[in-house]
Amino acid sequence: MVDQAQSLRELVWKSRNKARVIAITSGKGGVGKTSASVNLAIAMAARGGRVILLDADLGLANVEVLMGLSSLYNLEHVIEGERRMSDILVRAPGGIEIIPGSSGLAKMADLPAAARQNLLQGLEDLQRLADFIIIDTMAGIGRNAVAFAAAADEVILVATPEPSAIVDAYAMLKTVHACRENAVVRLLVNMVAGDAQARAVAGKLAGVSQQYLGRNLSYLGCLPRDPHVSQAVMQSRPFVLIYPNAPATKYLQVIAGRIVHEQSAAEPSKEGFLKRFAQSLGLAGNA
Ligand SMILES: Nc1ncnc2c1ncn2[C@@H]1O[C@H](COP(=O)(O)OP(=O)(O)O)[C@@H](O)[C@H]1O
Ligand SMILES: [Mg+2]
Repeated sequence: MVDQAQSLRELVWKSRNKARVIAITSGKGGVGKTSASVNLAIAMAARGGRVILLDADLGLANVEVLMGLSSLYNLEHVIEGERRMSDILVRAPGGIEIIPGSSGLAKMADLPAAARQNLLQGLEDLQRLADFIIIDTMAGIGRNAVAFAAAADEVILVATPEPSAIVDAYAMLKTVHACRENAVVRLLVNMVAGDAQARAVAGKLAGVSQQYLGRNLSYLGCLPRDPHVSQAVMQSRPFVLIYPNAPATKYLQVIAGRIVHEQSAAEPSKEGFLKRFAQSLGLAGNA
């Protein structure tokens, strides 16, 4: 049911004419960020709205690989000023579009001024085109990941029940809040045995977040450990598309619905993603 407050919120967002920017991040690699990013983007697009997935996680299993795509151009060409952002958008399965990443992102803060300006201009173009921009960031507290996470309107922090993933998730959370005190971070617990395990992980992280950072960490949801996820990865196809009845798909649909409809956490703010992004790179004034 669409209530009045919700439609009002949606109106406010639409009237900004700017995408909601959501960074998906984690402390540790291999927790399912890229898989969650791709499949969430598709499930969100199915609910209406233009979703652009920006690949800033430059590992081997990147967004393109997971979707069976291979493109000619990537962010490097935008940074170098050879292409505009809209030229390098790739149509991907499931009705989303992706921006292939480039290793240039890793040295973002050290780019020459003109290149940084190209990147920022490109991101601004994207914000006008899309309703949602999902950024699959690198794991860990590197400058690139933190810059995206601290600048985004909302952050989805992915962790698993593994102790090391929980500890690293906390480290990431702490760093994001250190960069931006009022960052809106929500937790997605992946590869769980069941809801109870997910709640236990969420409880633990929310507890330390409250105790040591004085910040709420709200719980977005969980995804079960499900062999369909890795089977889909092996086929370079998103699991929401090829396994619509898999447990992981059902949980993911719930989360996508929450993000699209129940979102209220991140009120539109005067200083948007780009300004914050430029600031976290120490480039204030360029955006
Ligand atoms: N819910 C899940 N159930 C089972 N396997 C999963 C799940 N989520 C991710 N995986 C597997 O974990 C591996 C790492 O996922 P990936 O999305 O590449 O992680 P990250 O981007 O965080 O490094 C992949 O092989 C993927 O198939
Ligand atoms: Mg990844």
